[in-house]
Amino acid sequence: MIGVLLLLLPFFLYIAAPQIRKMLSSGVCTSTVQLSGKVAVVTGANTGIGKETAKELAQRGARVYLACRDIQKGELVAKEIQTLTGNQQVLVRELDLANTKSIRAFANNFLAEEKHLHILINNAGVMMCPYSKTADGFEMHMGVNHLGSGVTTYSVHPGTVNSDLVRHSIFMKWMWWLFSFFIKTPKQGAQTSLYCAITEGLESLSGHHFSDCSVAWISAQARNATIARRLWDVSCDLLGIPMN
Ligand SMILES: NC(=O)c1ccc[n+]([C@@H]2O[C@H](COP(=O)([O-])OP(=O)(O)OC[C@H]3O[C@@H](n4cnc5c(N)ncnc54)[C@H](OP(=O)(O)O)[C@@H]3O)[C@@H](O)[C@H]2O)c1
Repeated sequence: MIGVLLLLLPFFLYIAAPQIRKMLSSGVCTSTVQLSGKVAVVTGANTGIGKETAKELAQRGARVYLACRDIQKGELVAKEIQTLTGNQQVLVRELDLANTKSIRAFANNFLAEEKHLHILINNAGVMMCPYSKTADGFEMHMGVNHLGSGVTTYSVHPGTVNSDLVRHSIFMKWMWWLFSFFIKTPKQGAQTSLYCAITEGLESLSGHHFSDCSVAWISAQARNATIARRLWDVSCDLLGIPMN
């Protein structure tokens, strides 16, 4: 009997997977806000969560800049989003967060092109990449995820999402594959960023941390104003930005 049940288990999991994944991925951005006339920048928009975020913003009518380090990949995705949404205002601009010269050039070009930036999604990031340094000599994770992306108004955790993030670890790739039926899709992973970017009336919660489209708990260390100030000062110092 147990043997039969074990044999049936994979079949049951396969059938039930969409329901199980739905149960585990709570948090959907239900805002119906339209974004025509708004300008958005999504970093790392050529794949994963960033791509889905950019698609949704374009669907709602925003002019969306895909800020990517690989222009060719970015152009392919821009075409795909234009075709899918009918919004031709999906533009690709070069941005390599592992190089502060590239970040400054991106910012200067953007300021020359646009008067306003309404939505900034600092999405690009790396995980578990082999030890390497950015063009400015910072360790890659520190350089790209923290110093490169700068300071965000909201911080969000997308949940565990099936994306290219685990590309540097065979073990994690294998784990992601094994559990792929249950972890979030990139579209589900994009919901919290979208929620924070477009939901009206969230201003009073600025600076909070969000997960599954709600304010989420953060550790005592992350709430410590002295540590935050020190991190800010050290980051400015590393980047040669005058402190204020
Ligand atoms: N997936 C998860 O479970 C999970 C969990 C927690 C947090 N997150 C965060 O969510 C964000 C999106 O991750 P994802 O899951 O969508 O991963 P992903 O599929 O690997 O996408 C990451 C994006 O960041 C870009 N990127 C990496 N280094 C860059 C650089 N130096 N300059 C510019 N762009 C760079 C990548 O561009 P290339 O394609 O050119 O490399 C890619 O477009 C990341 O910040 C990640 O840390 C994800």
